[in-house]
Amino acid sequence: MSLKISSFEEYERVYKQSVEQPEQFWDGIADTFLWKKKWDKTLEWNFKEPNVKWFQGAKLNITENCLDRHLEKSGDKPAIIWEPNDPNDDHRVLTYRQLHDKVCQFANVLKNNGVKKGDRICIYMPMVPELAIAVLACARIGAIHSVVFGGFSAQSIADRILDATCSLVITADGGFRGAKDIPLKTVIDDALVQCPSVKKVIVLTRSRTAVSMIKGRDVWWEDEVKKVETQGNLTFAAEEMDAEDMLFILYTSGSTGKPKGVVHTCGGYMVYAGYTFANVFQYNPGEVYFCTADIGWITGHSYIVYGPLSQGATTLMFEGIPTYPDAGRFWDVVDKHKVNILYTAPTAIRSLMSFGDDMLRGKDLSTLTKLGSVGEPINEEAWHWFDEKIGHGHCPIVDTWWQTETGGIMISPIAGVTKTKPSFATLPLPGIQPLLVDENGKEITGNGVSGNLCIKFPWPGMIRTTYGDHERCRTAYFATYENLYFTGDGCLRDEDGYYRITGRVDDVLNVSGHRIGTAEVENAINMHSSVVESAVVGYPHDIKGQGVYAFVVCPEKHGDDELTRKDIAMTVTRIIGAIARPDKIQFVSGLPKTRSGKIMRRILRKIAEGETSNLGDTSTLLDPNVVEEIKSGAL
Ligand code: WT7
Repeated sequence: MSLKISSFEEYERVYKQSVEQPEQFWDGIADTFLWKKKWDKTLEWNFKEPNVKWFQGAKLNITENCLDRHLEKSGDKPAIIWEPNDPNDDHRVLTYRQLHDKVCQFANVLKNNGVKKGDRICIYMPMVPELAIAVLACARIGAIHSVVFGGFSAQSIADRILDATCSLVITADGGFRGAKDIPLKTVIDDALVQCPSVKKVIVLTRSRTAVSMIKGRDVWWEDEVKKVETQGNLTFAAEEMDAEDMLFILYTSGSTGKPKGVVHTCGGYMVYAGYTFANVFQYNPGEVYFCTADIGWITGHSYIVYGPLSQGATTLMFEGIPTYPDAGRFWDVVDKHKVNILYTAPTAIRSLMSFGDDMLRGKDLSTLTKLGSVGEPINEEAWHWFDEKIGHGHCPIVDTWWQTETGGIMISPIAGVTKTKPSFATLPLPGIQPLLVDENGKEITGNGVSGNLCIKFPWPGMIRTTYGDHERCRTAYFATYENLYFTGDGCLRDEDGYYRITGRVDDVLNVSGHRIGTAEVENAINMHSSVVESAVVGYPHDIKGQGVYAFVVCPEKHGDDELTRKDIAMTVTRIIGAIARPDKIQFVSGLPKTRSGKIMRRILRKIAEGETSNLGDTSTLLDPNVVEEIKSGAL
């Protein structure tokens, strides 16, 4: 069986088969990968506990699929093209053979530093090839990586390290993002004050900023690699992993205060990332593929590293930001490296669109054949701009809906196969069985309907557990509706049966494609000494999709309102990271609450959205007057 579907008739046929005989369908997909031993049982599952096991009995190492198996035919093909933050610096190309060798070398470094199969390793690095190498070296040795995005604060890192009891951290002295230098090692030092489990820190030289190296704990990446070279340890036999062994943990926000460690396992995740990459992007050998995400998010895990490399693709890694040195940078990168496939986020599209079409002048985008969007609903205006100005009307746009928990793309056009429709993620990939339910969990059938999006049958890339707390996984995803995986998203299915994701229906915000729990932001705001209480909601933001609006009860301010706002914003940056910083802070004398003390978020959301005329029933409020005050003070 071939991995790629190439016509809509084939899609319909394969989709039907995947629902009627899911195990046979996935057997065929999994057969296209390299296994040390094949599975005894394709699937065992129930969504009650939940217990989901794919390819039981199988043995594999994902890095053999991403590296070794390409060496014979494609050893000299570029695996990673790296474009630095500063366009005047040299770019780098790593062939499959070079990447393989560096991964083996670094796996030896990890081994020399005491890392064993099953250990948890925290990775906090800039977008340089060594980040991909670190990730793959963990997978090679069977260690579980937990990559933390470079924008998170010391406190957020510490929380994640403690939750997973990581024994080693891989970082860099610093990183470049646009005009900024990010002092990564200093942030790690601050985090590690709280983390006794961490025995070693490996530090890559990138920014040459001053760092303090703690004796016995901190070592330089380059020195460790030299040791391995002197020892002559240039190969590394890939650890044999069970299909259901953990591959990685990635933390993501939910409706409670603490991020959850989403766990993905070796076999199923590999199959799902590779299958979806090959199909959605219809990747052809030789094409240059550029995903603009950071490896600190699931998009980077699945569609910069594992998906593309498992398919022998050339994946472009970009260190910088879309607006540095100017808002034409993405187009320069496309032009310079003759990019064929561009996968980016609506927030980036909207931001670049706002700089005007002048930024496109003189950039050769003619190599582009396929475009992709991910992370949040894409509005029609941005979709059309992307289509016309970037794709010149001839590149299919794949609007890919998925989540950290799903491991890979779930609902999306298949490029050139599925008819696209602006702002629609269109149809489920074969193997994926979505359904819409009402408030009570009753399925809403037929077309031209909306409801809450659930999935009724397992797929290989799905979340297995939340690290260290299986009950949390059950309550967050499998307890809302019986026997269903609940996504947390609202969704419309139009007359053609096409799906359009309308956004979260829980207390989770999507700010610039990043998931932020309102409870998490509230906790951070409440840590400020002058704050008594707060409530955070989202509001429509032209560029970010959603902005963070905080209603804060703060009766005794130190200094004026503006200063206190800055202090509160700084507190959130310190506790979580700049991505969660409130865009608007409104001081209020109290929050609208029901008599039982529940904050009426519905009312706050409406006020934040600027819709003050129709607030619905406020008679159940403890103090209806507070609403008038909040309305009149709205920002
Ligand atoms: C949430 C997942 C999937 C990788 C990036 C985000 C929203 C994601 C789309 C899309 C509309 C989308 C959903 C989802 N989302 N893709 N194409 N259209 N909404 O991963 O941080 O796990 O967030 O992002 O609300 O639940 P994440």
